[in-house]
Amino acid sequence: MIKQRILSGMRPTGKLHLGHLVGALENWVKLQSEYDCFYMVADWHALMSEYEDSSHLAEYSLDNVTDWLACGIDPERSVIFRQSDISQHAELQLVFSCITPLGWLERCPTYKEQLTEITTRDLTTYAFLGYPVLQAADILLYKGNAVPVGEDQLPHLELAREIVRRFHHLFKCDIFPEPKALLTKTPRLLGLDKRKMSKSYGNVINLSDPIDGVAKKIQTMFTDPKRIKRNDPGHPEECNLFDYYKVFAPDRAALLMQECKVAKQGCVDCKKELANIVAERLKPIQAKRSEIEKDKDYVNKILKQGADKAGAIASQTMAEVKKAIALI
Ligand code: TRP
Repeated sequence: MIKQRILSGMRPTGKLHLGHLVGALENWVKLQSEYDCFYMVADWHALMSEYEDSSHLAEYSLDNVTDWLACGIDPERSVIFRQSDISQHAELQLVFSCITPLGWLERCPTYKEQLTEITTRDLTTYAFLGYPVLQAADILLYKGNAVPVGEDQLPHLELAREIVRRFHHLFKCDIFPEPKALLTKTPRLLGLDKRKMSKSYGNVINLSDPIDGVAKKIQTMFTDPKRIKRNDPGHPEECNLFDYYKVFAPDRAALLMQECKVAKQGCVDCKKELANIVAERLKPIQAKRSEIEKDKDYVNKILKQGADKAGAIASQTMAEVKKAIALI
């Protein structure tokens, strides 16, 4: 049976952290056995928000792919590539931008939200408004059937489907699937300080953080604000540390729930134990990362191999598109 194709991407705007691991990467790894997978470094998308200082994009692209490989994304089974290596992303974006009404983009909730929330950068650009158009091109260039994404990306997928329908209607053809969101129940981890996990808040544990630094970071975590003294009964359901247990040691979390409520285990011990659990989770990833890093050119080779595979499909789709528009 022919496998369904999925495509997903990450913007290389920093090092990857625990949130990326449990929110996306572990899922990407699993999907490899069921789907024909395309995993993309969305560096053009990163440029749309980082254009004032783009000097780290190339470095983060390689760094992120190193983590993908270390976590188990397998270049023999999945196509791992960088968006900017495949010029057809920009071409298809241009075609789609011709048929995408401004209103669709202006109404997009992620666009409105980011314009008000991100105050440190000027995002009132032509490209940023068209962010979802490029994303639609990413997916449709490979005729992706499904896209594993977080809930925040749902409006972008809805737009991609609308673009497909409009394209087929205007050019009287049927070349693209309507891509579905693959919403997997991925736990949402908050940052160490219980705010949204973000490198700009400095509240994250990176996948490549030195192991001994992990315990120090976990020591700074916010726990149950109502538990002031060691012998006060705790409220695990309000404790950020407890949420980490649910993700990284669900069996232990069940027991701990009881122990915390009767003040059997204190927060300090709880943090020490969690630090060990997280360290054990990171160790094999980091071991694989060091292996990969021994060959300085390995990641570049993987990206080259990915670009060859992705490029072949992209040029085929683009030829179909030009034919449909009657440009050729
Ligand atoms: N917008 C996505 C995000 O911020 C990244 C992305 C770019 C993407 N192109 C994509 C995700 C295509 C899925 C499919 O997470």
